[in-house]
Amino acid sequence: MKNITVLVSGSGSNLQRIIDGVENGDIPNARVSLVVADRECFALQRAENHGIKNILIKRGKDFSSELGKIIPENTDLIVLAGFLSILNREFCESFQGKIINIHPALLPKFGGKGMWGHHVHQAVLASGEKESGATVHFVTSGVDEGEIILQKSFEISDTETLESLSEKIHKIEFEIFPQAINSVLNRV
Ligand code: GAR
Repeated sequence: MKNITVLVSGSGSNLQRIIDGVENGDIPNARVSLVVADRECFALQRAENHGIKNILIKRGKDFSSELGKIIPENTDLIVLAGFLSILNREFCESFQGKIINIHPALLPKFGGKGMWGHHVHQAVLASGEKESGATVHFVTSGVDEGEIILQKSFEISDTETLESLSEKIHKIEFEIFPQAINSVLNRV
């Protein structure tokens, strides 16, 4: 049984997808053993609803070192699911190859510091890009720069809005996130 720690900052619909995937067999032989948030958010409630241990570590310069102290030793994979803090170099290096993130665009475009959630959707719409999508990638100390594990795209329509774009991206995320988690769990 592989142990997953999930880091969250927001509504946690991707966390929910992972919890459901573990429960319905989409993510076999794994369990979410810990959820850590860097701020008060609904994702913590989702963990609580499923009896999953959950901890809040306030965001700030000590977040990564505090996280390093509490993360279970048997953790096989750390999954960033709508997590908005930046993990420091030391943390990224000590868990190299064991941290993955989901990003709401087609990296390497529209990534980096400040590119999260609606900021990404706004930038994509403003750019006149013909397509968008979601990317799961390994986390390294360069923000959104780690190796891409899985990516899926769709065509942006002429009538696309922030809301419709966000909805389409979440749908793709729910599809590729469990697949990417399985593929990495089979490697670690
Ligand atoms: C997701 O769309 C995820 O890709 C994005 O935040 C959303 C979280 O939604 N992550 C980033 O922007 C990270 N740079 P959720 O809390 O409902 O899963």
